[in-house]
Amino acid sequence: MFITLEGTEGSGKTSQLLPLVEFLRNKGYTVYMTREPGGTSIGEQVREILSNFENTEMHPRTETLLFQAARAQFVEQVIRPRLAEGAIVISDRYVDSTLAYQGYGHKQNLKEIKALVNYAAEGLMPDLTIFFNISVETGLERKKNGDERNRLDAYPVEFHQRVHKGYLELIKLEPSRWTILDANQDKDVVQENLRTIILKNLQEK
Ligand code: TMP
Repeated sequence: MFITLEGTEGSGKTSQLLPLVEFLRNKGYTVYMTREPGGTSIGEQVREILSNFENTEMHPRTETLLFQAARAQFVEQVIRPRLAEGAIVISDRYVDSTLAYQGYGHKQNLKEIKALVNYAAEGLMPDLTIFFNISVETGLERKKNGDERNRLDAYPVEFHQRVHKGYLELIKLEPSRWTILDANQDKDVVQENLRTIILKNLQEK
C-alpha cells in the first residue's frame, strides 16, 4: 500500500510521520517512510537547489521540472522496489504537491503539469492520500516559529492560499483517494485520528 501525506506549510504532517510509523511497526507492519523532494541521493541534491535562497531567479517552469527530475528517481529507486517487497510506503508529499504548488500556486497550465507528473511518476498513484487541513495563516505562523525557512516557503501568503484552494479542488476531483484530517487540533489528537484512518484503510485492503 502506498500512502501519501499532503498539506500546506506548517500543517504538521512531517512531525506526525515518525510516531505514526513507529506505531505501525509495533503492530507488525513493514513500513518504509520517505519524503519528497528527496528520498534518494539525487533527490536530496535537487532539494538543495530548490530550497536554496540564492536561487531567487528560478522560473516556475524550472521549479516544476526539478521536482519531476527528483520524482522520477524517487519512483524508480525507492517507491517501486519497496512496494514490490510488500512494504507499506508512506511518503511526506508526492505528485499532488506539484499539482497544488506548481499548478494552482504558480498558475501553471494544469493539463500540462498533469502530463509531466504522470511522466515522472510513470503513472504510479498513491492508494490513499491524507490532507492535513490547516488554515494557511496558522500554518505559516507555526512554520515561522519552527524549522529554518527556505526559498519555497518564502512565497507570499496569496500563493499559499491558492495552494490550499488547489488541494481542495484536487480532493473534489478524486474523493475516494483522499481523507481530510483536521490539522488545527492538538498534535496528540491529530496523531490518534491519523492512526485510526490508516488502520481502517489497511484493514479494508
Ligand atoms: P516540506 O519538506 O516542508 O514539505 O517542503 C517541501 C517544499 O517543497 C514545500 O514548500 C512544498 C514544495 N513542493 C512543491 O512545491 N512541489 C512538489 O512537487 C513537492 C514534492 C514539494
